[in-house]
Amino acid sequence: MLDSKILLVDDEKSARYGMRRALASLGGKVIEAANGREALGIAEKEEPDLIIMDIAMPEMTGFEALEKLCQMPSPPLIIMITAHGSEKVAVEAMKRGAYDYIAKPYEVDELRMVARNALEKISLERENRRLAEELKKKESYGEIIGASDVMQEVFDRIGKVSQTDVAVLIEGESGTGKELVANEIHKRSHRSGGPFVIMNCAALPENLIESELFGHEKGAFTGATAQRRGKFEIADGGTLFLDEIGDMSLNTQAKVLRVLQEQRFERLGGEKTIQVDVRIISATNKDLAAATKAGAFREDLYYRLKVVSISLPPLRERKGDIALLTNSFVEMFSRKHRKRILGIDAGAMRVIHDYPWPGNVRELSNAIESAVVLAGGNTLRRDDLPPEIRKQAVGAFGDPFSIDATLPFREWKKQMVETAERLYLIRKLEENDHNISQTARALDMHRQSLQQKLRELGIDVKDLQEE
Ligand SMILES: Nc1ncnc2c1ncn2[C@@H]1O[C@H](COP(=O)(O)OP(=O)(O)OP(=O)(O)O)[C@@H](O)[C@H]1O
Ligand SMILES: [Mg+2]
Repeated sequence: MLDSKILLVDDEKSARYGMRRALASLGGKVIEAANGREALGIAEKEEPDLIIMDIAMPEMTGFEALEKLCQMPSPPLIIMITAHGSEKVAVEAMKRGAYDYIAKPYEVDELRMVARNALEKISLERENRRLAEELKKKESYGEIIGASDVMQEVFDRIGKVSQTDVAVLIEGESGTGKELVANEIHKRSHRSGGPFVIMNCAALPENLIESELFGHEKGAFTGATAQRRGKFEIADGGTLFLDEIGDMSLNTQAKVLRVLQEQRFERLGGEKTIQVDVRIISATNKDLAAATKAGAFREDLYYRLKVVSISLPPLRERKGDIALLTNSFVEMFSRKHRKRILGIDAGAMRVIHDYPWPGNVRELSNAIESAVVLAGGNTLRRDDLPPEIRKQAVGAFGDPFSIDATLPFREWKKQMVETAERLYLIRKLEENDHNISQTARALDMHRQSLQQKLRELGIDVKDLQEE
């Protein structure tokens, strides 16, 4: 409670003095005002956490001041001091927003206890607000979105490795966000003022990769018409991101290993040794451990690159992040394409949730961008989604046990029930030739209720008929 601020309001100086002494042991800062009007001015400027105020004062009474104080944007807690035997007034004060009251004449201990309770409540509320904010923050980390436990771990690792210069290997299927993570590490590191250079090792044949990495002198090979700096040089003072590292030939691997060991190299066809200060982050969507065992990847290089590894799980293994990512992409692409899409309906969200997303976050992002561009209304509907996603999601209804069992029980149960409902209704629709009225009769349901239910569950009879 050392950082708390208490405002004492009483027209009698001696009374303020008495209170100040009573509260001294609580710590924190104590300020004073001699009447209600003064209290208002000071409260606005100083934003005290707690006000202890006499109810009977000339000028502006404690009551009037209380009402005005309670209208402040984040009002302080207020304890009123009432005259002996005026319980009614005290109750009225509480009704008008006072936190507590204390009747005159009071014991010093009594005042101290009431004030301490109030300060404890304040610090608890402050802590809750802080926790709530922290929770909210953890839905993203820089530009990386994700609330699942695995992503929280990823955020934690990024935070730690960015304080150092260690080599980081990022593993994950295509589209899981490896480049995004590499970039975030760079941005949070002391190298953020330097360059972030990307080298895609899969895109080029071996001889070109080396020239790209190390640069070349004029005339080093046919076509080398001018001297050229390589990525290692360009990344000096910054971070070099070696993407698709698993596609590098053994020959190039040896050369890269040397740079990592010595931080120096020569340009192709050059004699001069160039010294650089580069942090390496690499990424792969292959099983590099297996490649190492099979002899396709150098073991010594593997261990050098993987001082710390960060593994990005496929999206289907963190279904809890799907809604979060979807909503954020809807917002982002509506802004980008100047559309007024306010959200996504339950049926569409259901399809998105059930689809296995083999292309991971990139595929989700592309699907939402296309849906936003094509959407007619201001909510995304099932029909706005790319057909291959709608179709596959229907197929995925067949397996209720594909539900992510890492979900909280309640959410898991909800999904199990919904999946079971879907399977049941799809079966009934099939038995009734996909005729809604007939199916509704068979289920002893109203036609409209059935339609509503189908919409909620994301079942589109048209899609079923096409199968
Ligand atoms: N957690 C995430 N939050 C927000 N956007 C993400 C997230 N993960 C990926 N993305 C977005 O998805 C797209 C693909 O991400 P990225 O290029 O980093 O994937 P990758 O793992 O490098 O894929 P590849 O192996 O195919 O190169 C990018 O547009 C990226 O911004
Ligand atoms: Mg990539």
